[in-house]
Amino acid sequence: MPARVGKVTLVDILRTKTVEQSISDTEAPEHRLRKRLTAVDLTVFGIGVIVGTGIFVLTGQVAKQTAGPAVAISFVVSAIVCGLAALCYAEFASTIPVAGSAYTFSYATLGELPAWIIGWDLMLEMALAAAVVAVGWSGYFASLMSSIGLPLPAAIAGDDPVVNLPAMIVVLILTAILVAGIKLSSRVNQVIVAIKVAVILLVIVAGLFYINAANYSPFIPPAQATEQVAGLKAPLIQVLFGITPVAYGVIGIFSAAAVVFFAFIGFDIVATAAEETINPQRDMPRGIIGSLAICTVLYVAVSLVVVGMQNYKQLSTSAPLADAFAAVGQKWVAGLISIGAIAGLTTVVMILMLGQTRVLFAMCRDGLLPRPLAKVHPRFGTPARLTIIIGVVSALLSGFISLGALAELVNIGTLFAFVVVSAGVIILRRTRPDLPRAFRTPLVPVLPILSVLACFYLMLNLPVETWLRFLIWMVIGAVLYFTYGFRHSRVTAARQTR
Ligand code: ALA
Repeated sequence: MPARVGKVTLVDILRTKTVEQSISDTEAPEHRLRKRLTAVDLTVFGIGVIVGTGIFVLTGQVAKQTAGPAVAISFVVSAIVCGLAALCYAEFASTIPVAGSAYTFSYATLGELPAWIIGWDLMLEMALAAAVVAVGWSGYFASLMSSIGLPLPAAIAGDDPVVNLPAMIVVLILTAILVAGIKLSSRVNQVIVAIKVAVILLVIVAGLFYINAANYSPFIPPAQATEQVAGLKAPLIQVLFGITPVAYGVIGIFSAAAVVFFAFIGFDIVATAAEETINPQRDMPRGIIGSLAICTVLYVAVSLVVVGMQNYKQLSTSAPLADAFAAVGQKWVAGLISIGAIAGLTTVVMILMLGQTRVLFAMCRDGLLPRPLAKVHPRFGTPARLTIIIGVVSALLSGFISLGALAELVNIGTLFAFVVVSAGVIILRRTRPDLPRAFRTPLVPVLPILSVLACFYLMLNLPVETWLRFLIWMVIGAVLYFTYGFRHSRVTAARQTR
């Protein structure tokens, strides 16, 4: 592919890749992925990546600090925001069943530069989230090891290790599974998801016996002024509109929703497997909406049970589900929950990395990143080179960087992608009304507009420093686009040779 020379024009950077072109690219033999997934596989994939740190860790933290027992309502608010976006994702994934999710959708609607921005943004969501969750996995693993009398040295695990070895090892093992083939990883995922869901159901059913109705009152604790969070740590909405931060009360429910949003991240990643789905037009909407619906029911039930078992002020912030059972004297249930959490977080890391490789795969295939990286392995049928690169980068991030606050960066990146996808539905309806849409988002344009506004509202609830980091990441992305992607893009190159 000869590099392009010449001026950067607005026409070039807003050039769209036609839907037909996207679909026909998937037919090239050296870039073809195997089609093996069904609606059930996709739903299991969805649950595998959705149920993780959010429900196992954030529930306790948010109930204790921000929402009280009303954390269950925060989950509902977040689920509604995600549900609006999911309906938009479902239309896209059934219309353009090509690897790359929001990246591919933007290329078809908004143009090359916006598509690049989204692809770059999705890296923030997935590679970073994989590393964050791997660190959480390591924390549960360390706590389980010490509970069976084999504590790990502080230098390699725990709160502040020199190098987080368990996190790195788990990421590398999962990388090897992903390289070996999607069906294998899908099977591993099914077993682990079964364990994880069983543990969640155990929490719900066993927990019912320990609910103390007094813990529900007050369900929405009265709003309290918190210590003024100033400067970079303050939510943007506070800086812009001078709103004083409060914990609890109705405002607390909404602030908490911006945090527990992390628990729903993942249904969008189902869309990245579109190209490997046997019947994507029918099964993509089922996989996306089905996994989100199941997780919403589980989350609301778990959070109601947990705040019923223990007063919200006493909840643990690192292992709330397990500790609620330990607090009522059921240590064996607590142990089972830790095992479930370890299993659960494993699939989250794995599918985040899978989604990441598929987005990069699509970007390389389009020439926005070096094309040879997207070669599919002749025997395994997977983009092996990209998978290994992502695995090594995520392993290094999880091993050496403390990523706690960066989880918010994951949230902002994901919400931004939701905004773009929702707007994209309206645009594609106008520019390509002719396309067959197996699934149609209801109430267009009202529903996508509501989705944009709802996502933006949650973004405003994130801290100023998160916004700054996000902008810096985007600027780096723009520089890369103009120095490499723009010059090697296949779509614009094809146009210039016509
Ligand atoms: N939703 C995923 C989790 O909660 C990212 O871990």
